Amino acid sequence: MAILEICTYPQKVLLERAELITDIDQEVAKLAGQMAETMYNAPGIGLAANQVGVARRLIVADAAPRTLESNLVVLANPEIIAAEGEVTSEEGCLSVPDCQAEVKRYEKIAVRGLDLRGEEVVIEADGLLAIVLQHEIDHLNGVLFIDHISRLKRDLFKRRLRKNMAKREA
Ligand code: NI
Repeated sequence: MAILEICTYPQKVLLERAELITDIDQEVAKLAGQMAETMYNAPGIGLAANQVGVARRLIVADAAPRTLESNLVVLANPEIIAAEGEVTSEEGCLSVPDCQAEVKRYEKIAVRGLDLRGEEVVIEADGLLAIVLQHEIDHLNGVLFIDHISRLKRDLFKRRLRKNMAKREA
């Protein structure tokens, strides 16, 4: 296992649509394991493959990472098949450091995807898990949480992120 490097805005892999996974093979299972380890290490509650530079449709999430039982969700090719309600909460993202903003999401969702055995699963989620799953599926479509906020605030964040990046590269 290994901790992977997390890509940050405005790296291109974060802004593009990730590719469908056609085979759940050893490589996908290994990537999922490394993504989970990277997420727990960060620490974070969700991670999409393109956040570690891999443009494939794979996400991991754990909305209760501090409980003893693992609540790890791993899904390939996740898609929202039903949604209801509305909830607004503060979000952040490992790929958009030092930025938080209120984002409006569906309150409850059903997500269909493939597990690591290649079997179709449907996860019904509400609360934090529903929010995380929507955030991660957005990532696979090249969408960041800052794309859901006001343009004024987004521009402010983008300036801050570019400035921080320039500082790191200096
Ligand atoms: Ni994120």
